[in-house]
Amino acid sequence: MADALLSAVVNTILDNINSLWLQEFGITGGLKTELESLQSTLTTIQAVLLDAEEKQWTSEAIKNWLRKLKDAAYDVDDRESKSQSCLVDGTNLEFLNLFEEEDEQYEDKEKIVNVLFNTRLRDENDLSIYAICGMGGLGKTTLIQLVYNDERVERAFDLRIWVCVSDSFEVIRLTRAIIESIDVSSCEIKELDPLQRHLQERLMRKRFLLILDDVWSESSAKWESLRNPLMSGANGSTVIVTTRIEKVAHIMATPILPIYHLGYLPEHDSWLLFKQRAFQRESEGNNMKLERIGKQIVKKCGGVPLAVKALGSMLRLKRKESEWLSVKESEIWELSDDGSSILPALRLSYDNLPPYLRQCFAYCCIFPKDTKMDKSWLIELWIANGFVPPRGQRELCEIGDEIFNELSWRSFFQDVKEHHDGTITCKMHDLIHDLAISIMRFECYMFDIIKCVDISHCHSLKQTPPEISCLAHLLELSIFIVRKDRGCGIGELKELNLGNELCIKELVNVEGSTEAKSANLMRKLNLKSLSLIWGKNAGEFPDNEEEVLSSLQPHSNLLYLQICGYQGLVLAAWMIEGYRVSRH
Ligand SMILES: Nc1ncnc2c1ncn2[C@@H]1O[C@H](COP(=O)(O)OP(=O)(O)OP(=O)(O)O)[C@@H](O)[C@H]1O
Ligand SMILES: [Mg+2]
Repeated sequence: MADALLSAVVNTILDNINSLWLQEFGITGGLKTELESLQSTLTTIQAVLLDAEEKQWTSEAIKNWLRKLKDAAYDVDDRESKSQSCLVDGTNLEFLNLFEEEDEQYEDKEKIVNVLFNTRLRDENDLSIYAICGMGGLGKTTLIQLVYNDERVERAFDLRIWVCVSDSFEVIRLTRAIIESIDVSSCEIKELDPLQRHLQERLMRKRFLLILDDVWSESSAKWESLRNPLMSGANGSTVIVTTRIEKVAHIMATPILPIYHLGYLPEHDSWLLFKQRAFQRESEGNNMKLERIGKQIVKKCGGVPLAVKALGSMLRLKRKESEWLSVKESEIWELSDDGSSILPALRLSYDNLPPYLRQCFAYCCIFPKDTKMDKSWLIELWIANGFVPPRGQRELCEIGDEIFNELSWRSFFQDVKEHHDGTITCKMHDLIHDLAISIMRFECYMFDIIKCVDISHCHSLKQTPPEISCLAHLLELSIFIVRKDRGCGIGELKELNLGNELCIKELVNVEGSTEAKSANLMRKLNLKSLSLIWGKNAGEFPDNEEEVLSSLQPHSNLLYLQICGYQGLVLAAWMIEGYRVSRH
């Protein structure tokens, strides 16, 4: 599946590079050369890929190699889509058609336009720098395109300049890109000093609006160097920065200007966007069954337009109810085809993290979706698992605190709240949780080092992390909740050499003795305490409780056994003296 997906990605990128938009927009200079070189690399990748696919993943080396290739292909895909988004004057008609004047996005646009014209908010004698912040795919670039193309904005500035910054903040490249955008021709100057002087001349007495789209760099020195020549513009000149990283917004923005946190697309607007992508003709929108499933799919996207659009497009050619249901029931990371474009886009945020932050983030996938995570407890878990790197004499908690803040600033955590008792909690957006799981699945080796998962305080938990058996070195797991979903059955415990305390909940979901035996409790020599909890509601297999209990025999090293909610008439034969039984 994954190899087919990779071929599909490469094919799509090649199609796009060859497509008319390159010619239509008459791309010149460096961008054209770069795209031509990408095209040639991709053609080679495609040929080698066919060969590798024929070999059917027989060797580890090929698997490894395909993985690297996939990263490279996604990287190219990303660069290509960024190049496309540089073409801002090709106004996004789809966007404009979809949203009428009274909608949320229009309000966002108006708020930003107002700040641009609000003289009270800005120092007219100085350059104003305004930052827009939000997670990947939320619509920052799209929104700024609207502002950039607004007639009032066009009239108010002598020059409008758009530069896609992306992950490499090279001052020379960016200064040259600004000049090229003003001159509408390529600039051959190579050194920074003459480039800066040239830019100063171009901006002299001009009121300009500069968009720096998609900034990742946290280097204030580099930013200062880029900003210096911009000061020579006329009063009222403005820079708008878009970024996924709040820290970048703080470094770059004028302190008195508020940072604009872009919100999620409301459900109704998300639905309109989805409908527009998924249904080809208006009449098809009347298919009630598909509409109902579609609305649930939209919920999954949590107001991120990138996800709404990708899933809508993916279903455009699918008309069977079962196909829609399967998308509804899959996790984003299980989807192939177009749905897979969501994770690579978000993965950029992950790839941009230093390694110790990556481990701390990916670890959070052990919490089920929508869990309120307690900050100090999370930090303790990171420390216990050795993810917090020591730095000189500093306390690990303090470093953990910084890691937590970094992850919040980078939009990995949301709803960060301080409660009246001083505790701080946060959550992860569903898509970010999907990203964490996909990373865990793909890079399981990293999790080999996890030894303890303590979720004993999560009283409202409905699910333990799926496929927990991946954590091959796990020695302690406080709670395991049995579910019928894939990767959540009691058999997940089979190979885990668990010790200390284990509480197995929702045993009503165990089908019979074969499944119960697959937990292999008998071989867990280090287990000291075991709780077997059947669950409040009668399960699907009510007659099997005696059979299930009989097959859950633990090792005789066990010191404490608790059984709750068991409806069987007799206890199991293995429960002979030596176990201290407390029956509820
Ligand atoms: N309000 C909207 N209506 C329709 N489509 C939208 C809207 N906002 C964003 N989109 C679409 O969602 C996708 C992602 O949007 P965009 O590129 O603007 O996100 P972003 O926040 O800039 O992401 P990144 O952090 O990756 O740069 C694009 O395909 C865009 O066309
Ligand atoms: Mg963007």
